[in-house]
Amino acid sequence: MKMDNELLLQKQLQRERQRREEAEKLLEIKSLELYETNRQLQLTLDEKSLDIQRMNKELSSSLQYTSDELVENIGMLNEYKKAIDASTIVSMADINGDIIYVNDAFVTISGYSREELIGSPHSIIRHPDSSPEVFKEMWATLLAKKPWHGSLKNLSKNKEVYYVDTTINPVLSSKGKIKKFIAMRQDITELIHLNETLENRIFDELKKNAEKSEYLLRQSRLAQMGEMISMIAHQWRQPLTSISSISATLSLDILLDAYNKEFFQERIESIAAITQHLSSTIDDFRNFYKSNKKATTTTIQDIVEGCLKIIGKTLEGKSICIEHLNLETPIKITTYENELKQVIINILKNAEDVFSEKNQQDAKIWISCENRGDHAVLGIEDNAGGIPEDILPKIFDPYFSTKHEKDGTGLGLYMSKTIIEEHCKGKISVHNTDRGAKFIIILPSSLEV
Ligand SMILES: Nc1ncnc2c1ncn2[C@@H]1O[C@H](COP(=O)(O)OP(=O)(O)OP(=O)(O)O)[C@@H](O)[C@H]1O
Ligand SMILES: [Mg+2]
Repeated sequence: MKMDNELLLQKQLQRERQRREEAEKLLEIKSLELYETNRQLQLTLDEKSLDIQRMNKELSSSLQYTSDELVENIGMLNEYKKAIDASTIVSMADINGDIIYVNDAFVTISGYSREELIGSPHSIIRHPDSSPEVFKEMWATLLAKKPWHGSLKNLSKNKEVYYVDTTINPVLSSKGKIKKFIAMRQDITELIHLNETLENRIFDELKKNAEKSEYLLRQSRLAQMGEMISMIAHQWRQPLTSISSISATLSLDILLDAYNKEFFQERIESIAAITQHLSSTIDDFRNFYKSNKKATTTTIQDIVEGCLKIIGKTLEGKSICIEHLNLETPIKITTYENELKQVIINILKNAEDVFSEKNQQDAKIWISCENRGDHAVLGIEDNAGGIPEDILPKIFDPYFSTKHEKDGTGLGLYMSKTIIEEHCKGKISVHNTDRGAKFIIILPSSLEV
């Protein structure tokens, strides 16, 4: 029995030892694992701490950089401010328009002290002439949170007028509400005065130019008047010859005592009709010299006919044939009738001069017109061989003439261009065709007076 117990005890001891050995082994494994985990942890920790150290370094250098940049930016902003203050009149106003800041330039130009300005409304410098509409529009723009730009007339404390080119910007809070307004202005007083002087000078020059053009027009009319006398002579030659031959017949009848009351009556009526014609010729010339102050409504056909009443006989006398093209349908026009007649006569007279110079036999002039809705086009073409290409660009220049001094002033076409383009608001041009020169006049159907 004792033996059994001892054996049992030994077996138990054996098992216990075995278990202890196993436990020790397990402990050893676990402690090894723990050691390994610890080592790994230490490694990661070291790594992380290095990372942190590096990040720290980076952060502090970037912080340094940002703060340097900030200092530099503030410096630059100060430079900007200095530059702006030196060149610009700056002020700030609260939401009601009362001044809360002014720079030195504002103080200087306004003549008020800074103390007088701060807290005052901006209207303190407003010129009484300023239009209230401008300020209405300015406020509407600013309250819509948009910048406003414009020129303003101001009055300084010592009553001096100055002009400023102004830009006002609303300053918004982070919630988008208007906090205040910043206004930047440039003094443009000198520019405005310069502009006024320039405008006056331009006005004077324009006046002088108009006077010169009026003078040239008169000169050219005077020259035409000389030609007119010879045209009247042409017009009158034939009727005067008729009167003279009638009166000679009547005288002869009286001399021969062959007085016949009816015959005499007839002849005297003829003389009356001829004198009537002569008198109407004079009217045509007189009307032609009346300068139109107002545009009148007529037709191109009537104008052409009016011209031919004046120059027709002269052309006829020189065997120059006038041919009308498309003149049947009357083309209505509102323009300066007599001035236009002057141009047409100038052109016809020029053609006549070339025909005479060349002693041309089959001399012909074609007059055409065309209705183009709001424009009428008048064409005058001759068969005198055309204008030499080298003088073509110069013929509308003042005093350009290829004629002897006594035959031409060189003002005819210059005045024609002035009349058509400046008075009648049309266009005049010339080109050579295969038979001669062709002048084209484009006129607005109605002249807005
Ligand atoms: N139909 C034409 N054919 C050829 N040359 C022409 C014609 N019309 C004008 N010219 C040329 O244009 C020039 C300028 O014409 P313009 O009518 O301006 O002056 P002008 O006839 O010489 O003098 P005036 O002032 O007495 O009219 C003329 O001298 C002539 O050489
Ligand atoms: Mg001429």
